[in-house]
Amino acid sequence: MIYLILLCSLASTAWGAIFDLSRLDWTLVNQNGSIAVPATVPSQVHLDLARAEVITEPLLGINEFTERWVFFDNWTYTADLRPLLDSGLNASNQILLIFNGLDTVANITLAGRPIAWVNNEFRQYTFDVSFLTGITSGNLTVDFESAYWYGQNISTRPDTQQEILDSVFEFEVPGHRQYIRKTSADFGWDWGPAFLPSGIFKPAYFVLLSDDTHATPSSDVSDHVFVEESSVDIYKVGQNFSVPANETADWVVNVTLALRTAETFSSPSISLSFAELNLTSPQLPIDTLSTTTEAPAWVTVLWQIPDSIPQRWYPHNLGTPKLYNLTIALHLSDNSDPVELNLRTGFRTVKLAQLPYSQEDIDARGITPGDQWHFEINGKAFYSLGTNIIPFDPFYARVNQDKVRWVLESAARSGQNMVRLWGGGIYQPNSVETGGYDLYSVCDELGILVWSEFSFSDALYPLNDFLLESVEPEIRQNVRRLNRHPSNIQWSAGNEIELIVLLVNATFQVEGGTQIFVVQYVALFQDLLYNIATSETHSVPYTDCSATRGVLSLDPYTLRLFNGTEGELYGNSERYNYSAEYAFDYSTFPVSRFVSMPSFYGWEEVLESPDDFSFNSTVVVSRDHHDPPGNLTWPNPNGVHGQIQMTEAVEMWLPTPSTSDSNQTFAQWCWSTQIFQSMTTTSQIAWFRRGAGQGENNLGAVVWQLNDIWQGISWSAIEYSGRWKVMQYGLTTAYSPVTIYPFWTASNETLEVIVTSDRWDSVSGSAQLTWYDWSGKMLNTSTHAFTVPTLNNSLIFSASGLNSILPVGQKATDVWMLLNVTAEVDGNTITNEQYFTPASLADATLVDPKVQVNATKDLTFTLSALEGVAPWTWLDHPSGTVGMFVDGATGLPSNGFYLIPGIDRTLKFILNTDLSTNTRPDPADFVLRSLWNNTHSE
Ligand SMILES: *[C@@H]1O[C@H](CO)[C@@H](O)[C@H](O)[C@H]1NC(C)=O
Ligand SMILES: *[C@@H]1O[C@H](CO)[C@@H](O)[C@H](O)[C@H]1NC(C)=O
Ligand SMILES: *[C@@H]1O[C@H](CO)[C@@H](O)[C@H](O)[C@H]1NC(C)=O
Ligand SMILES: *[C@@H]1O[C@H](CO)[C@@H](O)[C@H](O)[C@H]1NC(C)=O
Ligand SMILES: *[C@@H]1O[C@H](CO)[C@@H](O)[C@H](O)[C@H]1NC(C)=O
Ligand SMILES: *[C@@H]1O[C@H](CO)[C@@H](O)[C@H](O)[C@H]1NC(C)=O
Repeated sequence: MIYLILLCSLASTAWGAIFDLSRLDWTLVNQNGSIAVPATVPSQVHLDLARAEVITEPLLGINEFTERWVFFDNWTYTADLRPLLDSGLNASNQILLIFNGLDTVANITLAGRPIAWVNNEFRQYTFDVSFLTGITSGNLTVDFESAYWYGQNISTRPDTQQEILDSVFEFEVPGHRQYIRKTSADFGWDWGPAFLPSGIFKPAYFVLLSDDTHATPSSDVSDHVFVEESSVDIYKVGQNFSVPANETADWVVNVTLALRTAETFSSPSISLSFAELNLTSPQLPIDTLSTTTEAPAWVTVLWQIPDSIPQRWYPHNLGTPKLYNLTIALHLSDNSDPVELNLRTGFRTVKLAQLPYSQEDIDARGITPGDQWHFEINGKAFYSLGTNIIPFDPFYARVNQDKVRWVLESAARSGQNMVRLWGGGIYQPNSVETGGYDLYSVCDELGILVWSEFSFSDALYPLNDFLLESVEPEIRQNVRRLNRHPSNIQWSAGNEIELIVLLVNATFQVEGGTQIFVVQYVALFQDLLYNIATSETHSVPYTDCSATRGVLSLDPYTLRLFNGTEGELYGNSERYNYSAEYAFDYSTFPVSRFVSMPSFYGWEEVLESPDDFSFNSTVVVSRDHHDPPGNLTWPNPNGVHGQIQMTEAVEMWLPTPSTSDSNQTFAQWCWSTQIFQSMTTTSQIAWFRRGAGQGENNLGAVVWQLNDIWQGISWSAIEYSGRWKVMQYGLTTAYSPVTIYPFWTASNETLEVIVTSDRWDSVSGSAQLTWYDWSGKMLNTSTHAFTVPTLNNSLIFSASGLNSILPVGQKATDVWMLLNVTAEVDGNTITNEQYFTPASLADATLVDPKVQVNATKDLTFTLSALEGVAPWTWLDHPSGTVGMFVDGATGLPSNGFYLIPGIDRTLKFILNTDLSTNTRPDPADFVLRSLWNNTHSE
């Protein structure tokens, strides 16, 4: 009998061919031996030290600072091999040691023999350790060198060009992150802490292979083949990076496997099948397999399928994310059953359009000359609605599937069809068995497109042999690993590097410097990484960087860089502007995005003393890394910049929180920063979406950021615990297929109300604009019918001069406008709502709304404003609960709206029981807020 060993499907049946390193008894020791504690695999040093109570939970209080000593030390993981050696190794004749991830610089020693020195967190390492069959005792030791000291030491090498790096910005730990293939954010970022973790952070295994002479029927160690890597690339005949898919051509399924065997198979073959489609390929021959030691045997089979047979995969907002089970059957010999491997995959084409607009587009559609930069799915352009994902935790080893699923489900529920996996983080995993959790399969299933990035971020990367040698296998492994996921629609080679290179180069030019940055950038990002990526995938487009000025040509792949014509638009871009004054000033758009505080509940998770619960307490400010310190100075002298930006924004645009109850005031401050963040981000998204119908033909808004890495000040829409901030509900409104938005230009007192649609068919409906005063009295209302063409806008109202815009006889501070839209989309009625306040809410003459809440045991809340309008009416769910509020009428996520007398709202709380520690919350513990509570005690 022949078994196939495949970590991504069989590890759970493991005893037998796979010996999980978690089964050994591990010890963790620091360099001088003064600390020795029991340890685990997979894990990281901080987590093991916290379990052993040497340190407290790293995310508490100011532990980021007090626990720095951990990363200045060097740590060794050791385990006695006895349990492995006792398990009948003599039945196998090849033994592999597999680490799916080591963080990061380490020596591996096995039974006294040096196995390897490793230095790349993003690689999977496989070692042939067959010598173990003759060994009777010994240890496995993984000796980690502090990434900080490694960086310090390696930067003194002559080939590291240290002198040209001095101009590059550091966030917190000056650990020379460009020399070490480790998650950049580990060194600190402007939204996160710097813990510089280390350890055996992903699952690791021994794999035991045997041939027929060794295997005995009673042995449980009788496996013959191990699949070290697999790639399933599905594309159209003739398609590659520079040749777009012919949508009616046959599909090509390229299945490539890296196999290890302990014996020879002389005429093996592979057959492929999609059971649901009743499709099975012929037996496709592969080369003879024989015992391999240094490297696996690579085999490839290609299979063509007519275009018409499979249903295509679409993002959830444009169709059905249809997936199929692919069975890969490996026929090793005539007298045995094939061994099978099952993977889920899908059929779709993706194009990243980045060539110039045609003269016809420019003439007929009024498009600004320049290059396109947008995605097409299955041959059609669409609007990308998304956010950025950062690492889910400073300590990867404790990220769990429930949390990742919740963040992704939250993205889908808020209307997002894309997430960008930011390049300062880690390559995200696609299997629990090899990666600890699985992000890509959830995106496939939920229909969320993934913009993936290679792990390069905000630095200049000097070229030298040790970087290049390490990067090539890293890129190849990750591109192959993720090929099978239809959700993966782009490889971008890094984050914000192109613009840094152009900037730094310009500075040096002025000083009579050199072009070395550009030369090195081109060598790495235009040539090397491009060549590697496009040799491993035909289906996923490549781009050098986000943001980028795009290309001059696709074949040969040539970056535009300095080459441009005044007045033309190229590539994609990003914008920052943290000045509250310009938050809603469209003449500076697209510009703004703002940080916000975690909720009061988020702070409760990490603050330890009652004194800490105030907006500018030492602990709160120490968790504001915007701006970052730039070095190890503590407390961060620049955190105050972020605090000031938040303070000014709240004071300028909302009633300044101040009540007699200090906890209420702190809670209203935290929440008000979130309201402001939501207002400014949704206003920016509305501006981007409007751009679909303008000269720039903007077809995407991917805002910063979706999830959070800790309980600190950040741009996140969802808190570390999974709690939705105000912005996450705001995104649900901003990313609706049909939206309405009031574009107000204060300088010339112009109001334009625009309806936008991202549908492929034109959409008709009606909009209603209604003026109210703050007591809730309706002043006037008007109805406007519209039709929006595909991916475009419709202007439904436009007026200038506040006097002619406001209801007769009213002051700007006394009134506001409710904007509603109703449209028929794909057979359903869609609604969308916005609010226009002609004056800042800080100056609005609010009245006590006297909101009444009627709650039922099943967590349904009916809200009524009895005496006035309650702007930003908001329900908070209690500590220890994770979930979302949905509107009783639309079923869509909803929280943070204007509650109007006579128009009650019903919200139902949908509890996530996997993530909540309090699974039976009491409706009485839900807290109601509105802006009235900023200045009035409850
Ligand atoms: C860790 O190792 C580095 C050498 O890479 C050394 O400079 C440093 O002193 C060591 N740390 C401790 C605490 O021993
Ligand atoms: C194996 O590790 C244990 C615990 O760290 C240690 O006491 C022992 O000396 C080691 N054995 C060898 C052969 O290195
Ligand atoms: C790894 O081994 C090399 C060569 O023996 C040695 O120079 C280096 O210090 C070791 N590093 C660690 C972290 O033990
Ligand atoms: C696209 O594929 C179809 C089906 O194979 C073929 O008939 C057609 O000629 C192809 N078109 C181009 C432009 O190659
Ligand atoms: C596959 O075959 C089954 C049984 O013959 C049939 O019921 C089913 O409709 C077929 N499916 C497709 C997609 O052809
Ligand atoms: C099939 O995929 C493998 C792995 O990415 C790649 O090396 C090979 O070139 C591909 N074959 C073809 C014909 O595209």
